[in-house]
Formats: sequence, C-alpha cells, structure tokens
Amino acid sequence: MTSAPTAMEYDPFSAEFQADPFPVYRWMQDEAPVFHSQKWGWWALSRFEDVRAAVTDPATFLSYEGIDIDDTAKDQSGPGFLPDIDNPRHDQVRRIVQPHFLPRRIAAQDANIREVVRGLIASWPDRDEVDLAQELAWPMPNEVFFDVLGLPSAREEGREQLERWIHELKDRRPDDARLTPVAKAATAGIQDYFIQLLEERRRHPRQDLVTHIVQADIDGVPFADEHLEPASEVLGLMMVLFLGGVESTAGLTGTLFKLLAENPDQRALLQRDPSLIPAAIEETIRYATPLQLAGRTTSREVTLHGVTIPAGGRLVLVYGAANRDPRQFPDPDTFDLNRGRMRHLGFGEGRHGCLGAPLARREVAIAAEEALPILGDYALAGPPVRYPTTPNMYVWSHLPLSLRA
Ligand code: HEM
Repeated sequence: MTSAPTAMEYDPFSAEFQADPFPVYRWMQDEAPVFHSQKWGWWALSRFEDVRAAVTDPATFLSYEGIDIDDTAKDQSGPGFLPDIDNPRHDQVRRIVQPHFLPRRIAAQDANIREVVRGLIASWPDRDEVDLAQELAWPMPNEVFFDVLGLPSAREEGREQLERWIHELKDRRPDDARLTPVAKAATAGIQDYFIQLLEERRRHPRQDLVTHIVQADIDGVPFADEHLEPASEVLGLMMVLFLGGVESTAGLTGTLFKLLAENPDQRALLQRDPSLIPAAIEETIRYATPLQLAGRTTSREVTLHGVTIPAGGRLVLVYGAANRDPRQFPDPDTFDLNRGRMRHLGFGEGRHGCLGAPLARREVAIAAEEALPILGDYALAGPPVRYPTTPNMYVWSHLPLSLRA
C-alpha cells in the first residue's frame, strides 16, 4: 500500500525553500498543479504546458499588478515599467526600445563586450584563485549595459554611486516581502538621478539610448513628460532597463561557471567543442532558471485541473519549476549539454518575453569563450555565496574558483 504524499508548502520567501526549491516544485507538479497559498493568497502554476499556456494568453493573465510578488511593483515600478503594463500601452512603449535590442543591433556590441571581458580577466593566467562573481559575472553586464544605455563609464562621475544603487535597490530581509528602507532610499536616489540625466540629454542630445528615449514620441505625442517626475512613464521604462539589464545576466554568468565546475564531464565536452557554448547557456537557463517566477492577475474566472481561480486572482507562473517539468524534459534534474533544440521558459515568452535576451546570450557566450580556456580544469574553491535579492533568483555574490584543480 502506498501512503498519500505529504502536503508541502510553496513559500518562495522562505530561506529553507530557497536552499532547495526542486522537491517542492515536483510535489506541486504532481499533487497540486494549481497550488493555492493560504499564507500569501495567490495561486501558482508549475507544469510547463500550464505556464506556457498562461504566458501566451495575456488577455486572461494580466500584468498590471506586477511581475514581482514582493513589494517591488508597488515601490519601484510605476507607469512605463514594461513587465507591469498591459496593452495597448505595453506595445506602444516597448516599440520605443525594441529596435535597440534586436539580435542584429546587439551583434554590433560584440567587439565591445569582448574587450570588456578580456580586460576583466587579463590577470587570470597568473592567478591560482579568482572570484568569478565579483571579477566577471557582475562587472561585465554592468560595464556593457551602462554603455548600451548611455550611463557614465567606469571613469566618469556618478558611476560608483550608480553601481551601489544597483545592489541597494534589491536589499531584502529573508522571509519578508517588503522592501527595506535601504532599497526605498536607493529607489528615490536613482529616480532623481534619471530625471537629471534625461533633462541633460534633452538639452544636449548624444548618440545613445537615453537620448533616444527622451526624444521618442508615440503617434506624435512626446513620450517623456515636459516636467519629469518619479511617476512619469519614462522613469518606469528607465527603471526596468536598469533593473533588468544587469542582475539577471550576472546571475546567468555565475551559474554557468558554477554548473560547469560541478559537472566536469559536461565542461570537458564544452572545452573540446566550444560550438556547444550556446547549448550550455540554454541548458543553464533551463536547469537553474535565473528568474524563477513572474506574477499575473486573472481578468476572468479560470478553472484548471479542477481548481477555480476567481477573476482578479493573483497568480504566480513558476518558470523555474516549468523548466524542470519531467512531462516536458526527459531526466529534467540532469545538467545535459546534449539536449538538442529545446524550448524553455527562462526568458518568458510572448508579449512580455525578455527584451534583453539577445544581449544576455551574447554577453554570457563571450564570457565563456574567453574565460574557459584560461580557467582550464577549474574547481569550486569554497561554497558559492547567494546574492540577497527578489525571492528565488539564481544570482551569486561570491563564486570562488581555483584554477589548478
Ligand atoms: C540572463 C539574463 C536575463 C534573464 C534570465 C531574463 C529574464 C526575463 C524574463 C523571464 C522575463 C519575462 C517576465 C514576465 O514573464 O513577465 C523578462 C522580461 C524582460 N526583460 Fe529580461 N532577462 C534577462 C536579461 C535582460 C536584459 C539584459 C535586459 C535589458 C534590456 C532585460 C530586460 C527585460 C525587459 C525590459 C523585460 C520586460 C519585457 C516586457 O514586459 O515587454 N532582461 N526577462
């Protein structure tokens, strides 16, 4: 006789869950495919097909209440914050920046990205140990994205403060959905900074994305208000680019090198055949999805697997679980570079699918192309330290590697 499986709790804010979410994900998929959280009041989908169906039906699964399930949406987004707006406005705003992130435009960044990466790892051939998170995963997307956007370069005034804010914006306490006073102060600081920057570019245009954004119009109406304030749409757009452009790429970069240290057989495949680097990146996103979840709100009553979610119900799409669903991926808990073509949900999909995916993919690929030959048969030199952030993102503060394993 088999006994009934013990009910589990899906609480993405709990430190215990974050340490190893995967048993809970499997239980949800098998026993509670529409999980209802009594504690937080929302529902969660974890099977691949259910999550994909929801994400490609933006008329039923709305975004206006925010992609994050902590207080980020309330405190940090506002109008213009793409993941949190529905149509028709979403597509109008996205069209302002979309052309700048197409693969063809991003390809023009290749030489710059390579130069940044080479500069960051120049000392590595003479070293026994490096901290990959601090020395490559974080500074690379910082440097690249500041340049793409038109923010101050490493040598210009204001840069240090901006980098501090990037981290402070994400300040969180474990088991708490609220932003800390540090995060709120950083939010106000960055909004103020963006207002000055946009005003400055309005007066003195340059060939950069900030200038393009402040000069854009939608059907002949200027996108940026004449008098800019934190609640202006243009500020929300700047904020999502700033928040989206760095941390998740830092997370993916660190996680790729970490998984290759933990799976030396897969690393050997990659070192023998670097043409597998794009496959390694997709498999990393599938296996340890950098952004584990995204929130939605139902526009009507929805019944799925016998559970009814009312109109206006808050729903969590658990991308990190969907990407480990055995119904979709054979042997999902194995990190395997030879899966061939696969469709994962690590960049979302459809209307809100990641704007920056082509840029993130190029950055991580170039980091791997340049760093793997130098790192050789590297190993973890100590436990990786998780970055304190939005619940359940795979990002690392420290990733010590020893080069002579
Ligand atoms: C490895 C790196 C990245 C990962 C894993 C990632 C992941 C995601 C995911 C899952 C979504 C969909 C959210 C939803 O379903 O509501 C998304 C949306 C978005 N991402 Fe990324 N992202 C990454 C890098 C970037 C970069 C470099 C940028 C810079 C431009 C960026 C900007 C955005 C924006 C603006 C959206 C909202 C799109 C919309 O709602 O129209 N992301 N990202």
